[in-house]
Amino acid sequence: MANATTQAPRREAFGSRNVFILSAIGSAVGLGNIWRFPYVAYEGGGGAFLIPYLCALLTAGIPLLFFDYAIGHRFRGSAPLAFRRLHRAAEPLGWWQVLICVVIATYYAVIIAWAAMYTWFSAQLSWGAGNEQSFFFEEFLQMGNVAEVGVSTQFVPQVGIPLVLVWVVVIVIMGLGVKRGIGRANVVLMPLLTVMFAALVVQALFLPGAMDGLNAFFTPNWAALADPGVWASAYGHIFFSLSVAFGIMVTYSSYLKRKTDLTGSGLVVAFANSGFEILAGLGVFAALGFMAQAAGTDVSGVATSGIGLAFIAFPTIVSQATGGSIIGVLFFGALVFAGITSLISVLEVIVAALQDKLGWGRVRTTLMVAIPIAAISIALFSTTTALAVLDTTDAFVNAFGIMAVAFVAVIVVAWILHKLPVLREHLNRRSSFKIGWIWMLLVGALAPLVLGYLLISEIITKINTPYGGGDYPVWFLGIFGWGMAIGLIIVGMLLSLLPWSRRSHAKNDPEYDEFLVEENYQPDTETGAVRLPDSTQNGARA
Ligand code: ALA
Repeated sequence: MANATTQAPRREAFGSRNVFILSAIGSAVGLGNIWRFPYVAYEGGGGAFLIPYLCALLTAGIPLLFFDYAIGHRFRGSAPLAFRRLHRAAEPLGWWQVLICVVIATYYAVIIAWAAMYTWFSAQLSWGAGNEQSFFFEEFLQMGNVAEVGVSTQFVPQVGIPLVLVWVVVIVIMGLGVKRGIGRANVVLMPLLTVMFAALVVQALFLPGAMDGLNAFFTPNWAALADPGVWASAYGHIFFSLSVAFGIMVTYSSYLKRKTDLTGSGLVVAFANSGFEILAGLGVFAALGFMAQAAGTDVSGVATSGIGLAFIAFPTIVSQATGGSIIGVLFFGALVFAGITSLISVLEVIVAALQDKLGWGRVRTTLMVAIPIAAISIALFSTTTALAVLDTTDAFVNAFGIMAVAFVAVIVVAWILHKLPVLREHLNRRSSFKIGWIWMLLVGALAPLVLGYLLISEIITKINTPYGGGDYPVWFLGIFGWGMAIGLIIVGMLLSLLPWSRRSHAKNDPEYDEFLVEENYQPDTETGAVRLPDSTQNGARA
């Protein structure tokens, strides 16, 4: 039996299933929904995009969400521990996901910091009408050219100071733990975000020209459906949007009570996330319709996504619309809240993994993990070359890394370890919505095919057309692009070779042992972790 000094701290848990659902929605609803989806949909055929989008959601997004839930909930651990319990050799997959989260966290925080500053700027229209583009790039970011100055160390205080504040806020939330920190933050921020965003959409819908924007957004271009690229973008979008395949849902579901309706919760999360995307599409395109009318052009002339949409198009709308400051405060405030609830989920993947591996307490792990990540984030992203580093790491680690890890994970779990039946059985134990062989077919066959296709075309594109259209030097793409994407795999493998602390959950987890007994599951002989009391041994093996 475990001795008290080597026993792992009790695993944290969400206060209730509803808090878990809210937190999972908080993670899913992020920058991807607000600034990415509207443009992806518009480019992919407008109203007709609904077809590839729904196909991607139903055949890949939701099945992989269930896959993540099943791994986290059945093996009750952070990504590396859950994969290790699935099979010792699968542990590097978990670390790969953790490292992807480290990279995403460093730059996701800076976008929240920009949005926080723009909430403030909107209230006073700081950029001066007609000056939005130069204000963002020159005055605010003080952007330098990496080809000329390399990776700069020149500190930009108007970015660096809010970035420090963002980190302080998220470190406090993380330090408070799953129930008191993450759960409560989502309980407060998610309703606030919904109300703010709904108010923004209503206001945008009343702007002159809004209907032209909505027409442009919804008018179906059926010809787009014949383009495989449109289907690829629907599938590519859904992974990031639903926060699947980068460890988040594995980690969050490990904090769910043992007896939980997993698939029912997953459906609520997935449809809430999609609802938010449609809402964002309405708001963004209504506002772009107004902008096009004011500029006397077509909506296609102003439609854009990402940084261009948020920090150039929206400030232009704010300058021109009556009550523009309110639109700006609502839009940028919504980006801040949506960003924080997603950032804490990304950080939780890292904190949970190290807590499991080292057997440390919450506060100590949070500080040891978040402070170095915050320092890297501040050092790299409050300088004049932040945008180039952000753009490149996002393109390689996010767009490409998540697809790569998802592809390898489904191949390993479905085809090498043959664990899909185990996961399916676990999902069906208590869920209201039972999943059958179709789920196994989608995860085991369709997902690897689609992901494999996406991955190969992404690799070919990135090799043939150097990323950034010549703006970034080869050495820069080598370090922050390819080097980062491949380096994470190697470091992930190395981390899985490090021994687990004797106090860690992998070595000594009476709660997990108890769970196995109660559920009548086989002990995980792979990890050698289970030391059941004699009286329960037989029950567990029955
Ligand atoms: N799912 C989160 C987003 O959409 C990460 O931004």
